[in-house]
Amino acid sequence: MASASQISRHDGKLLVLLPGMGAVATTFIAGVLAARRGLALPIGSLTQLQTVRLGPRSDERNPLIKDLLDLAPLDDLVFAGWDVFPDDAYEAARRAEVVEARHLDPVSDEMRAIRPMSAAFDQSYVKRLDGPNVKPTRSKRAMAEGLREDIRRAMGEHGASRAVMVWCGSTETYLRPSACHASVEAFEAGIDANDPAISPSQLYAYAAIMEGVPYANGAPNLSADHPALEALAVERGVPIAGKDFKTGQTLMKTILAPGFKVRMLGVRGWFSTNILGNRDGEVLDDPESFKSKEVTKAGVLDTILQPTLYPDLYGDLYHKIRINYYPPRGDQKEGWDNIDIFGWMGYPMQIKVDFLCRDSILAAPIVLDLALFLDLAGRTGMSGIQEWLSFYFKSPHVEVGHVQEHDLFIQHIRLKNTLRVIAGEEPITHLSEEHVYERP
Ligand SMILES: NC(=O)c1ccc[n+]([C@@H]2O[C@H](COP(=O)([O-])OP(=O)(O)OC[C@H]3O[C@@H](n4cnc5c(N)ncnc54)[C@H](O)[C@@H]3O)[C@@H](O)[C@H]2O)c1
Repeated sequence: MASASQISRHDGKLLVLLPGMGAVATTFIAGVLAARRGLALPIGSLTQLQTVRLGPRSDERNPLIKDLLDLAPLDDLVFAGWDVFPDDAYEAARRAEVVEARHLDPVSDEMRAIRPMSAAFDQSYVKRLDGPNVKPTRSKRAMAEGLREDIRRAMGEHGASRAVMVWCGSTETYLRPSACHASVEAFEAGIDANDPAISPSQLYAYAAIMEGVPYANGAPNLSADHPALEALAVERGVPIAGKDFKTGQTLMKTILAPGFKVRMLGVRGWFSTNILGNRDGEVLDDPESFKSKEVTKAGVLDTILQPTLYPDLYGDLYHKIRINYYPPRGDQKEGWDNIDIFGWMGYPMQIKVDFLCRDSILAAPIVLDLALFLDLAGRTGMSGIQEWLSFYFKSPHVEVGHVQEHDLFIQHIRLKNTLRVIAGEEPITHLSEEHVYERP
């Protein structure tokens, strides 16, 4: 990692590239444009609102993260994206029905100017989607090259000095890493051979890395999380992160579960069900796309609760997850959790959580923070998997041999300490400053 003085300064426009201009992407863009004009606050964004303590509490040094680090300011952001549907960002936002007209109308001109480039798309990976704005080729090599040209052209048109890409496209069908993911060479050969194990989102990730553009995956499908693209990212000095934005029910789970664990309360069962009616919900209604989501959602409790260390408390936990497509709800998802816990002498208790949540409102600030932090990481000379960004993901992308950390609070400490180190400050251990701990 470069020291604070070696980080290249942000200079010029930062292009945020968004494969998938649906609910999340357009809510993100609308919010940035509105914040720029002082029409709305970027609530939920650490890069915009959070402070970071430096040194002992008594020093009272608490700068905003964005002041401590040389993050790109919102005024420097420009946007481009791809979608299967030709709607511009304004029309797509209207269709998504997340942001209301009172917020959209004042920024409508800027949003109308953001028209999606033609998508690298193949319906075999997203069964419930079919749209006209797709590249006229089935060749994976031609799609990848087309995406690389798109990136270069969009950077030129916007006069951008740097770019980052955040996948906000639909959840693709469940794929496991296979032979073509074993190395960069195998992956290149797989692209040339139209290997079915290479989905469009992997082509976007590949194109980004080849163009030196940091990449984050907001969906649960396999994308850059395999040895081939991990190695390519290191080779080309590009930071990558993933996967699956941590919003809604999983956010709640990773807030509550660490609480039960630190109090040594047992958990016997955790039943989670959702109703949602947006396009994401429709795509997830397909069992193959749901499988991708189920896998990223399910791993969370095991790593937080550590049933092998605490078999009496968590060894017998029954965890069930359901997602139900229910069109009347649109983006306003409802997530119910029934949690069966037990305490002293094994006496049972129940907790019910009914989260009337707005998924894209929770996801939009994550897109912003990832874009700004990945840009910072790139300028800092950090490459490959950025585990310190685990805070933002349901299924954090980690190095082989590392265990995913799901506890939101541990993830947060790691994120902030990484920022302190990037800024040339000491990490904070949370040991009391007044006491020196010495072994007897
Ligand atoms: N909303 C959340 O809180 C949240 C949380 C975690 C993960 N996610 C994931 O983020 C993604 C976006 O969510 P959303 O609610 O905006 O969904 P959405 O359906 O509104 O938008 C996704 C868009 O991606 C487009 N798309 C699909 N494949 C594409 C391709 N190959 N190239 C270009 N465009 C493509 C679709 O046409 C669609 O417009 C989904 O995968 C979702 O599972 C969302």
